[in-house]
Amino acid sequence: MRLVFLGPPGAGKGTQAKAVAAQYDVPHVSSGDIFRAEIARESPLGRKLKSYVDAGRLVPDELTTEAVTQRLGDRDCADGWVLDGFPRTEGQAKALDEVLERSNAKLQAVVYLALDGERIVERMAGRRVCPKCGRPYHVVHLPPRSDERCDECGTALVRREDDVPETVRQRLATFERQTAPLVGYYERRGLLLRVGGEGTPDEVRDRLFEKLQDAVEGG
Ligand code: AP5
Ligand code: MG
Repeated sequence: MRLVFLGPPGAGKGTQAKAVAAQYDVPHVSSGDIFRAEIARESPLGRKLKSYVDAGRLVPDELTTEAVTQRLGDRDCADGWVLDGFPRTEGQAKALDEVLERSNAKLQAVVYLALDGERIVERMAGRRVCPKCGRPYHVVHLPPRSDERCDECGTALVRREDDVPETVRQRLATFERQTAPLVGYYERRGLLLRVGGEGTPDEVRDRLFEKLQDAVEGG
């Protein structure tokens, strides 16, 4: 299974990509998680990445493509992956095409998770994340079992620094300008699956799995 999740910030890419990756037993590869881990290390590269992420701007293609393709070269990615947040520009999409060609592999589908601006703002305002494993929660819609701690690893949950309203607005504008054109890029190749991101996480998941089964398994 080789799958890409595309969609505006806060649409639920991370939430659903994790579920799909678990179902098909392949790694969930999130460019945002890779960058946040590097930022948390406070390395020189992390400080550079932070200046883009905190401003709601895209990290330059060169840095992004190198980080993601390196991860895709790991042994656990040999039989497939679920990509979340990459590619985000046409340059990144072409770089992914080259990676696939080199390994003689094919992308099975690109899931476009759609959600309107009002719901996006509400979801990001209530988001909490596990700084260790990256799992997203929501104070109302997806609360952790125990107060403010990750269900999987028990780490105290935090708010993402780019979830403040001004940065959210900037991220939405960046998406419209630089990433939305990829919808057409993949649609023209017959790879795009449009999935509505509204409703509860389980409702979105059911809708998504139904479409994926039709597209990927032909049934
Ligand atoms: P990234 O981490 O990819 O962030 P994003 O695309 O802005 O998306 P989010 O992670 O905010 O949202 P999501 O769609 O994953 O939603 P989630 O499942 O968490 O990127 C961050 C930054 O890194 C970028 O701004 C950029 O600077 C840089 N970057 C990353 N990739 C890059 C690239 N390829 N090129 C250049 N720069 C790059 O859900 C959101 C909330 O809603 C959560 O609280 C969740 O619990 C809740 N929720 C989920 N589903 C539902 C539901 N159905 N109902 C109610 N609540 C729900
Ligand atoms: Mg995410």
